[in-house]
Amino acid sequence: MASVVDTTSTPTNAFTTASTLAGKRVLLGVSAGIAAYKSALLVRLLKQAGCEVRVVMTSGAQAFITPLTLQALSGEPVRTSLLDPEAEAGMGHIELARWADVVLIAPATADLIARLAHGMADDLLTTLCLASEAPKMIAPAMNQAMWRHPATQRNVMQLQDDGWQQIGPAAGDQACGDVGPGRMSEPDAIFSAVTTLLTTPRANAPHVVITAGPTREALDPVRYISNHSSGKMGFALAAAAAAVGARVTLVSGPVNLPTPQGVTRIDVTSAEQMHAESQRLAPQASLFIGCAAVADYRSAAPAEHKLKKQDGNDTLTLTLVKNPDIIANIAALPAEQRPLVVGFAAETQDIQRYAQDKLTRKGLDMIVANDVSQAGLGFGSDQNAAWLLWRTAKGVESRTEAPQPKRQLAATIIHQALVLLSAKTPH
Ligand code: C5P
Repeated sequence: MASVVDTTSTPTNAFTTASTLAGKRVLLGVSAGIAAYKSALLVRLLKQAGCEVRVVMTSGAQAFITPLTLQALSGEPVRTSLLDPEAEAGMGHIELARWADVVLIAPATADLIARLAHGMADDLLTTLCLASEAPKMIAPAMNQAMWRHPATQRNVMQLQDDGWQQIGPAAGDQACGDVGPGRMSEPDAIFSAVTTLLTTPRANAPHVVITAGPTREALDPVRYISNHSSGKMGFALAAAAAAVGARVTLVSGPVNLPTPQGVTRIDVTSAEQMHAESQRLAPQASLFIGCAAVADYRSAAPAEHKLKKQDGNDTLTLTLVKNPDIIANIAALPAEQRPLVVGFAAETQDIQRYAQDKLTRKGLDMIVANDVSQAGLGFGSDQNAAWLLWRTAKGVESRTEAPQPKRQLAATIIHQALVLLSAKTPH
């Protein structure tokens, strides 16, 4: 499945700053998966790094690993119940929620993810997640079919929209005998992702600028030229970039979509406005993704008043002029101002040839090409298939992505772009 992040080379590591975790307070939630045995190692890694660790287990988790094991490793009593007067007398659950610098759930089962996505608070762990304002991360672990299920994917996307970060799952052999995505990431990969989350000052996180949606080119005060872009792909990219800790600015044409959690949104109408905002933002950005369906032409002279129907004249001639090519202008910025540039190519035929040509002609680092003539994919749909093409020092590489939810494809595109970015600017 394309959205699975390779936990051994998770791109969040690309912007990890060397720092210490000493004194950081980690609230580790453990839910009912066989991967819970790996949580013991995770506690050890966190403790060795100087973190204070408090563990909360769901009732199911205790069938896989005993609270005593995690108590011995964390050096703190393990909490298992919301309604435990003795534990509440020590540190009440709201106090515990405020205590945490980070809430990490490893393993996070499909059931727990579903309950978190719906804001439930029917046990101690889910209650703490609602009550805590600390950054939060899940390390999903489940059978590959459960992970692939649209309900799980919807829930994971909801958590991303709510600002949760995610590590994994990895793909490979599963305890149930299946092979595929759903294995919890290894403890050292989770440890490294938490380190990034806790030590990367937001100001040092990569700044990603994304254009999304259509543009509208006025013909007169009431009419315009536009296209069918819904903005869903650009918004999905913004959510996916925010989910891996990037600072994200979304320059959006007129769309009917909510702004993803943690994303700064700038609304524009015309291509010229989108161009101006992109030119202003891109020189400070690490990554620029041009996902907008920018109108190629605008009216040479938009009428000041509503155009009137001409009696006795069956045709109307409009003079159009070319809009600036936003992404090509960003790609042409001087090296010290130029971010990594990723473009899109929506085609109806000969996708690979047109995409390759666009990559070269516009001077892009990567292009995501898709066939918008296919029913149920692309424009307005929640699904997309794509062909990713990028430049490397050795030449051009590519990969085909099968039809999948736009949110899933977005995670893959962001992952690939951050891998390219880390190759460009090693830290
Ligand atoms: O040329 P075409 O519209 O197919 O190119 C698509 C790519 O170029 C997309 O990344 C799109 O956002 C970008 N583009 C742009 N400014 C334009 C036209 C396209 O940034 N005027």
